[in-house]
Amino acid sequence: MIIVTGSSRGIGKRIFKHFPEKETLGIYHATPPADPRRRSYRLDIGCEAEVDLFFRKISPELSKVVLINCAGISYNSVAHKADLDQWKKVVDINLTATYNLIRKVLPVMRNDNYGRIINLSSVVAQKGVAGTSAYAASKSALWGLARAVAAENGGKNITINNINLGYCETGMIEQVPDQVRDDLIKQIPSRRLCPVSDIINTVEYIIATPYLNGTSIDLNGGLF
Ligand SMILES: NC(=O)c1ccc[n+]([C@@H]2O[C@H](COP(=O)([O-])OP(=O)(O)OC[C@H]3O[C@@H](n4cnc5c(N)ncnc54)[C@H](OP(=O)(O)O)[C@@H]3O)[C@@H](O)[C@H]2O)c1
Repeated sequence: MIIVTGSSRGIGKRIFKHFPEKETLGIYHATPPADPRRRSYRLDIGCEAEVDLFFRKISPELSKVVLINCAGISYNSVAHKADLDQWKKVVDINLTATYNLIRKVLPVMRNDNYGRIINLSSVVAQKGVAGTSAYAASKSALWGLARAVAAENGGKNITINNINLGYCETGMIEQVPDQVRDDLIKQIPSRRLCPVSDIINTVEYIIATPYLNGTSIDLNGGLF
């Protein structure tokens, strides 16, 4: 089963649609799923009780799991003015909730001797971008998480990798004012935003490449 979080919007929505309907389960939260024919489950990934219930419900079906963690949030504020609750919320969703989902699928993966975990990290954590301390901290933590989980589970044909994404043509970029977006594109050596098809190709490559483990792929058009 392929589980895609963040399947209601942006990148996750496109990845969700890419995989065969029967094998794929989407997770959404506030935004209703676009395609009611596809199997989707409403879940606040930050709520432990909801996550427990979700896994209790689907556990009989879980096998050969591919978990694609696309759900994520951001909060813009310079560090010395940031609101602590909003800062923590970003870490709660992007890191702790992502870890909790990983924690839930690992026993199944270990039992199956198969598993693929793919997290969406960001070039923002590599570059150091003003106003992004919470987001950057949460996304860079995924690198260490992947290394540790790979060390623990690599012998069981379970891989965990991150895609360190540059600026994509869909999703969060839609909230960025046009002028800022144009300035961003000028900084990208490829001079364009990342097409979703390149993200999907990378996801497919990670799934098909068992020796790739505990690492990240920089998908950023040459931007660092
Ligand atoms: N777009 C980019 O250029 C870019 C660049 C680098 C990295 N990334 C990363 O790629 C991932 C996808 O980005 P995106 O641009 O597609 O984001 P997006 O359009 O803002 O969508 C975010 C998704 O996360 C889900 N989500 C947020 N909080 C949730 C919660 N508590 N429980 C369950 N789902 C929740 C949302 O679901 P609902 O709407 O249903 O609440 C939505 O489907 C994110 O992790 C982001 O950090 C994106």
